[in-house]
Amino acid sequence: MTEQPPVSGLSLGDARDAALERTAQYVLRAWNEFDHARERETLPDAALAELLHAPLPEEGGDVLAMIDHAVEVLDASLAQSRPRYFAFIGSSGLEVGALADLLAHSYDINLAVDARAATQLEWQAVHWLAEFLGFPAATGSFTSGGTISNITALASAREAAIPGARRRGLAGERPTMYCSSEAHYSITRAAEVLGIGADHVRAIEIDDERRLRPDRLRERLAADVAEGFTPVAIVATAGTTLTGAVDPIDELADVAREFGVWLHVDGAYGLPAATVASTRDLFRGVERADSITVDCHKWMFVPKACSAVLVRDGSTLTRAFAHDEAYMPHEGEQFNAVDITLEYSRPFRALKLWLALATHGAGALRDAVARNCEQAQLLYALAREHESLETLVNRPQLSITPLRVAVPGCADLDAHNEALCSAMQADGRVYVSPATIDGHAWLRPCFTNFRTSDDDVRVLVDVVVELGSRCAILHG
Ligand SMILES: Cc1ncc(COP(=O)(O)O)c(C=O)c1O
Repeated sequence: MTEQPPVSGLSLGDARDAALERTAQYVLRAWNEFDHARERETLPDAALAELLHAPLPEEGGDVLAMIDHAVEVLDASLAQSRPRYFAFIGSSGLEVGALADLLAHSYDINLAVDARAATQLEWQAVHWLAEFLGFPAATGSFTSGGTISNITALASAREAAIPGARRRGLAGERPTMYCSSEAHYSITRAAEVLGIGADHVRAIEIDDERRLRPDRLRERLAADVAEGFTPVAIVATAGTTLTGAVDPIDELADVAREFGVWLHVDGAYGLPAATVASTRDLFRGVERADSITVDCHKWMFVPKACSAVLVRDGSTLTRAFAHDEAYMPHEGEQFNAVDITLEYSRPFRALKLWLALATHGAGALRDAVARNCEQAQLLYALAREHESLETLVNRPQLSITPLRVAVPGCADLDAHNEALCSAMQADGRVYVSPATIDGHAWLRPCFTNFRTSDDDVRVLVDVVVELGSRCAILHG
């Protein structure tokens, strides 16, 4: 007699095959759809609203019906995978990345501790990534995002600048951090959570190309040191969130060396462009940094969440994070992952980057990044040619091309462009987010999707011009 498997109310049991098949069909349909833009976004309807206000079910329902509902929700949501999603800094749900997630989540491996082969693969992915970006990493880890990667790196910087700070706290210390006035808020957040204090983040002036000015940094550092502050880190942004400006890393590395300060490169968005011939020079000096952040869930196309923090000297991470607990013992230098990470339980994020690189090769990722940079230049050229469109004076450095509509006779161009952005979002053909640059309202398209075509860029211009010409209707 064959033994019956134990029955659990949480197993799909007989519905398992059908559930997997139904999900696979939906995934396939979505991927096929994402190859092209859809005419308009699908908005949540009344039936969906009812579903989304349903009370907590005590008894479950049919899994196939519930999968259908889940897909209805997804379909009426903003998907960054669609080729005309140009808002914020998107990604594009790379197909093999999604498959890796399904596999990784099914096995539910925890990288808080040694997970055998998965841990080895994470090391391999860290080293592949380091080689790809040209950074001499001793070690690193995959985190939930650029914010956590930056906090992780800056915690190491704090411990390096003020040894013992993690135990004693910062009483009596006056730590400072330095970044461009257009650095991402996660740098300020790191200062807040690390006890450095947001007021001690020195937002250094930028130049005409919106890059941190090394001369101003040097002046500020000298003044702070003279006043008894302890500089913890200089943060170079390699691709600002606002316009994609890349700070002069090599010159900042000179300043860091001069003052003996940690150099962190926040390349959450832009660092993959260091691999592309046309933009490589912008990143000169990245190999001199103490630590770098790169979000694989941005411009390496894999689904969220997958960021990486890499460090030049592995002991800097262990000095900041290593610990011994009764439930987490280790022998001597045999560190657990939690001895170099901020997080404890950690999903197997490395798998999606590994599968992406193994399946497509580094060259395909590089080419896709290069194409996005070209699309930003194409948009810049199209906007410059058009009499009713304005751009920033300088060409895009990476893949963000701010633009705005200037309709003759329009009394308030900022109100107009804000209204235009909302109108475009409601229209649904393209999705763009707004931004305030030098106090004015801009549309801020960003290209980080391998599915975006040059035609999609042209459609973006057409929609901006079409809706933007209705100045009076938009805010009259
Ligand atoms: C330069 C930069 N750093 C950090 C972050 C934060 O990344 P995440 O949203 O993955 O936490 C972003 C996000 O856009 C960014 O552009």
